[in-house]
Amino acid sequence: MKRIAVLASGNGSNLQALIDQLNVPNSPAEISLVVANVASAHALTRGREAGIPTFFVPHEGRGDRQNYEKLLIQLLQEYAIDFVCLAGFMRLLTHRFLDAYPLRVLNVHPALLPSFPGTHAPLQALKAGVKLSGCTIHLVNEGVDSGPILAQAAVPVLENDDVDSLSARIQNVEHQLYPQVVRLFAEGRLRTKDNLFFLDGWSP
Ligand code: GRF
Repeated sequence: MKRIAVLASGNGSNLQALIDQLNVPNSPAEISLVVANVASAHALTRGREAGIPTFFVPHEGRGDRQNYEKLLIQLLQEYAIDFVCLAGFMRLLTHRFLDAYPLRVLNVHPALLPSFPGTHAPLQALKAGVKLSGCTIHLVNEGVDSGPILAQAAVPVLENDDVDSLSARIQNVEHQLYPQVVRLFAEGRLRTKDNLFFLDGWSP
């Protein structure tokens, strides 16, 4: 059983999907720790209500990024965490954190990367007039949403969409795809070929 930490900054709907689909009997992984860096993050309530050890770890007043990450690593080690899922965690991680969990930090992004990295991805997609968007699950590196892609799901962009309607459609597929990917990842199905990454057992 792999022990997962989820790092979040906001609503935590992806956290909820991970809890609902992984913290079940015979699962290869469970959400064992929830950390948020924003006091008002609803993710904190979701973690507590699920009975999972849940911590607010503010980044303000912690010195530089690496000091903050040192604290995170200590907490994750205390809870014997095997790998990390970012779910709306609005902070870039440095090599200090990533070196502690090499190829073991995942993220969900609301666009078909490498298009529209960074913030406000659904708005970027609407402005570009793309007809398909979706979500990407990728391994995290030091760049902005630039780590190796593991899985993607597409949704249509409709003529009358606004940011809210498109975001909701994307989130709907995020909530299905992220738990599937985490499950395969926890089962050790990650494979590399020619510098690209694949999850055995998953196809678009
Ligand atoms: C998701 O849309 C995810 O793609 C992005 O941040 C959003 C977080 O939403 N990284 P939630 O907090 O999981 O509801």
